[in-house]
Amino acid sequence: MSRLVIVSNRVPAPVKEGAASAGGLAVALKAALEERGGIWMGWSGKSSENNEPGPLSLTGEGKITYALTDLTGKDVEEYYFGFANRVLWPICHYRLDLAEYGRKEMAGYFRVNRFFAHRLAPLLKPDDIIWVHDYHLIPLAAELRQMGFKNRIGFFLHIPWPPADVLYTMPVHEEIMHGLAAYDLVGFQTDHDLENFAGCLRREDMGDAIGDGRFTANGKVFKGGAYGISIETAAFAEFAKKAGSHHMVQRARQSIKDRDLIIGVDRLDYSKGITQRLDAFERFVVNNPAHQRKVTYLQITPKSRSEVPEYEQMQRTVAEQAGRVNGALGTVDWVPVRYINRSVSRPILAGLYRLAKVGLVTPLRDGMNLVAKEYVAAQDPEDPGVLVLSRFAGAARELKSGALLVNPYDIEGTANALARALNMPMEERRERWQRMMDYLLEHDVTRWCDDFLNDLAA
Ligand code: ADP
Ligand code: F6P
Repeated sequence: MSRLVIVSNRVPAPVKEGAASAGGLAVALKAALEERGGIWMGWSGKSSENNEPGPLSLTGEGKITYALTDLTGKDVEEYYFGFANRVLWPICHYRLDLAEYGRKEMAGYFRVNRFFAHRLAPLLKPDDIIWVHDYHLIPLAAELRQMGFKNRIGFFLHIPWPPADVLYTMPVHEEIMHGLAAYDLVGFQTDHDLENFAGCLRREDMGDAIGDGRFTANGKVFKGGAYGISIETAAFAEFAKKAGSHHMVQRARQSIKDRDLIIGVDRLDYSKGITQRLDAFERFVVNNPAHQRKVTYLQITPKSRSEVPEYEQMQRTVAEQAGRVNGALGTVDWVPVRYINRSVSRPILAGLYRLAKVGLVTPLRDGMNLVAKEYVAAQDPEDPGVLVLSRFAGAARELKSGALLVNPYDIEGTANALARALNMPMEERRERWQRMMDYLLEHDVTRWCDDFLNDLAA
């Protein structure tokens, strides 16, 4: 078997116990790579002090060797905050209004990709399989090809891919499309993203789908496919079962008493629909007096990308909104919303999912959303909770037979779904949960990884 070399911007390098990596890429890939082993190269998360990127630092954990590099402050500013998170992220999440096109940032993005290619080069052997992840590193294969590397190189996009009308508002869309066409296999989360990608190729006569999962662009043939990322379903279910005895989970259970728990877990990101969700919860309580004082909504939201102005602003908006809802609805003995603005460890998270009667997952747009899958896997089969899920999450395409699908922009509709979830008879809850769980047991993260790598190797 060829050695696997993974490259991603964010790398969950070994950390002291207790810390948790928030973000689907880190959580899922780590699970997939732990079994198979290989090299994982990426950004250390630090800016170098002397404004020089510094050497690669190598650390081993189990079968994985992490190869991390610092970036300069300018690199982080332009490539990560500037282009990746103020252009590609909003565009791929259909937020044209939030994209900020700075020439400096665009140049920084391509420069850092070249830098990553040069850092990676000395580690590579001719038969290594290279798997690049996410929007930060789209031009990486083109850079490696230019340096003469002939390895198989695959790319997986963890976030949605937009339609041509949205993508083509971005000044460097052509370079980005060419960047993707330099891979041997380009993977998306859903068939919907894949269709959008084919539409983008067609729009400017750059290429098209030619059948059998193959595409052409500028005379080159490459493969494309939909591979929904997933979780370690069986292991997470087991983990959640045991998490009930964790003292923090027990304390949470006692503090909730006999109230119903609704849980939301997301990075603090405008794509996650957190403000609309708080509005929907408020509407639900107002519309359903019978549930007043009988329900607690717990929102766990670690800070994310706080140097990007839209995220910094959101930090204030969500905190204020949670305070306002509590002020408006709360009573001397009832705090309707509990808002936690940091990460929690995975055992606690798993235990809290299991305690919750409703998993409220309502992104405005999301590549997949692993929280939805974790919530399902964590349930007690005898008394499972209900997943209320946005139709705009990739996960909705897989879990629609069991979840209550909502349009997160429709506040009244989401409020109604909350009422339906909390009032759902046990038999219906079990049936719905079983359908989702069967799907997730079959389509776990190992299968996702194998499917992608088999297609890349084929
Ligand atoms: P994204 O990749 O956009 O952050 P996902 O829902 O796909 O969204 O993945 C988020 C991952 O991060 C999940 O595995 C989730 O458990 C984890 N996570 C999110 N918020 C927290 C939190 N507050 N504490 C711990 N883990 C978190
Ligand atoms: O899963 C989508 C994603 O953008 C990953 O690429 C990223 O690691 C994660 O969300 C968290 O974001 P960040 O790495 O910017 O903290």
